[in-house]
Amino acid sequence: MNKIFNCDIMEGFKQLDSQSVDCVITSPPYWQLRNYGFDGQWGLEPTFEEYLENLWKMMDEINRVLKDTGTVWINLGDTYSTKSGGFAQEASKRTPSMTQKYLDHIGTIQQPSNLPTKSLLLIPHRFAIGCFDRGWTIRNDIIWAKTSAMPESVLDRFSKKHEYIFFMTKKPKGYYFDLDSVREEHMQSTLKREMRGRNTGKYTGGAGGQSEQGLIKEREHKGYENMKDIYESGETTLNPKGKNPGDVADFWKIGTAMSKTEHVASYNPALIDKPILAGCPRGGVVLDPFSGTGTTLVRASQLGRQYIGFEASEQFFKITEESVNQEEERKSQPTIEDFI
Ligand SMILES: C[S@@+](CC[C@H](N)C(=O)[O-])C[C@H]1O[C@@H](n2cnc3c(N)ncnc32)[C@H](O)[C@@H]1O
Repeated sequence: MNKIFNCDIMEGFKQLDSQSVDCVITSPPYWQLRNYGFDGQWGLEPTFEEYLENLWKMMDEINRVLKDTGTVWINLGDTYSTKSGGFAQEASKRTPSMTQKYLDHIGTIQQPSNLPTKSLLLIPHRFAIGCFDRGWTIRNDIIWAKTSAMPESVLDRFSKKHEYIFFMTKKPKGYYFDLDSVREEHMQSTLKREMRGRNTGKYTGGAGGQSEQGLIKEREHKGYENMKDIYESGETTLNPKGKNPGDVADFWKIGTAMSKTEHVASYNPALIDKPILAGCPRGGVVLDPFSGTGTTLVRASQLGRQYIGFEASEQFFKITEESVNQEEERKSQPTIEDFI
C-alpha cells in the first residue's frame, strides 16, 4: 500500500478510494509564511479566506477517503498581520543569521492592506470552527509548545511559541484511539503518594510488627512493581499503565527540529509519534497530503504503519523518495532476531 505521489494535493486525492485511509497527519503550509517556489502552492492565496476555503476543500476530501473509524491530526500555526508582508519576512529582518534559509523561500509575500496591523489572524481557530461547522468532531485542540522555537525580538508582546494540532474524527464514537500506547510513567511524587495510600485513606499501616512509618517507606519504594496489587485491591485510581501523556495531556512540550534538508518547515518526528501510535492501528494506513520531506511517512513506517504521501514540489518529493527508500532498505536488513 505504501505510495508517494509527486502531485498537487487535489490530484492526489483523486488517486484514493473512499474509506481507504485510517489516519491523516499533516502540516499544511501556513498562510503567507513562505514561498515554496512553485505555481499552485497553497499558503500564498491573496486572502486568508481563500486559504481557509482551500483547507476546507482538503477536509472534504479527507472526509471521503477516511474510514469511519479514522482519525485526523492537523498541525496549524498562526500568522500576524503586518504592513510589510508575512511574519517570516518580518522575522528575517530581525534575526538575519537565523533565517537566511527562509529568505530564499519567502519571495515577495504581501498581505492585503485591510487587515488590522500587528494582529494575530486566528487562522487555526477559524479553520477549526469551519471544520466543526462541516460536521467534524473536534476531539482536541492540542497545544504544541515549541521548547526551541526561533527567537523573536519583540518588545510589545510575548514571543509566540506554540502551534495547534487539531485532533478530529468523523464520528463522536467508535473511532480508533489507543491511549494505552502513549501513556507516560507516573511522576515519582504521584507514585509515592499512592503507595502511601493517601488518596483513598484505606491504608492504615502498622502490620507485622513494623512501625507505620517503616511500612510507608517500604511501600513508597516499591513503585511500579507494587502498583498492580494496589490497583487490584482498589487502593488507587492511578492507571498502572501510566498517565495520560504530557504535563497536561493536551499540552505537548516538544522542541522544533533543525531540518537536515533544504525544507524550512519539516516537523520534529517526536511530534507525530503520539498521533501515529494512538490514532492508527498497527498495519493501518497513514496519509500525509502535504508530505514535504516525508517525515510522517518515514515515522509511520518505522512504527509499523503503511503510508501515502502527496507533495507537489519536485525538490521535496525527491527528498521524500530518498528518505522512504532508505527506510525500506533499513527494514529489509536482517536484524539480530533473524539470527537467534
Ligand atoms: C509545512 S510543509 C510540510 C512539511 C512536512 N511535514 C515535513 O516534515 O517535511 C507543507 C508542504 O506542502 C507542500 N505544498 C504546498 N502546496 C501544495 C499543493 N497544492 N499540493 C501539494 N503539496 C503542496 C509544500 O511544498 C510543502 O512541502
